[in-house]
Amino acid sequence: MQLFLDTASITEIRSMWDVGILDGVTTNPSLVAKEGKKFEDLLREICALGVPSVSAEVVATDTEGMLREGRRLREIHSSIYVKVPMTTAGLRATKVLSGEGTRVNMTLVFSANQALLAAKVGATYVSPFIGRLDDQGQDGIDLIRDIVQIYRNYGVRTQVLVASVRHPIHVLEAAKIGANIATMPYAVMEKLVQHPLTDLGLAKFLQDWEKVPKG
Ligand code: G3P
Repeated sequence: MQLFLDTASITEIRSMWDVGILDGVTTNPSLVAKEGKKFEDLLREICALGVPSVSAEVVATDTEGMLREGRRLREIHSSIYVKVPMTTAGLRATKVLSGEGTRVNMTLVFSANQALLAAKVGATYVSPFIGRLDDQGQDGIDLIRDIVQIYRNYGVRTQVLVASVRHPIHVLEAAKIGANIATMPYAVMEKLVQHPLTDLGLAKFLQDWEKVPKG
């Protein structure tokens, strides 16, 4: 499974990129707003790090506006994937953009039927938001299970990008189901690395190493 960071912070992206475990980055308008930088400058900076997949969202709500913004975004760098919301206008725009060869990430997906439609219009990624479903009392992971099964049933090539990930169990469950990608905040990715027994084990090894005769 590919691991993406859900952030627009250059510091966070650079830090994980240097570790070598990062496959991509997803941004959204809320994350971009936190950085206090011009959107296109920020995207150029992220792409310049070498990240191969960088999702950048349109903010227009009509098809023409989405097409205008999507075409502009894709010109910024070959790593850009255009993020389009799951609306009727978004489906129309995705159909056109995908037809032009632009890779589209259909976002704000909350049902398997929406994911089926995203595939129909040629989206490269579909982004179901599992944490926000959990917040509503609906199990977000069940949605991932349904989408993966439906896509398998029909040999759909759209990749399932699990979004709104809140903790490592979301990542684990998504991987067990066979989702293609999970995008997560920096703090969640850090937790994938850590285990208290690793820390304790390392401390003990170093302590014992002191007893080995040196020189
Ligand atoms: O980027 C889309 C999604 O991952 C947002 O997550 O935590 O705002 O629900 P969250």
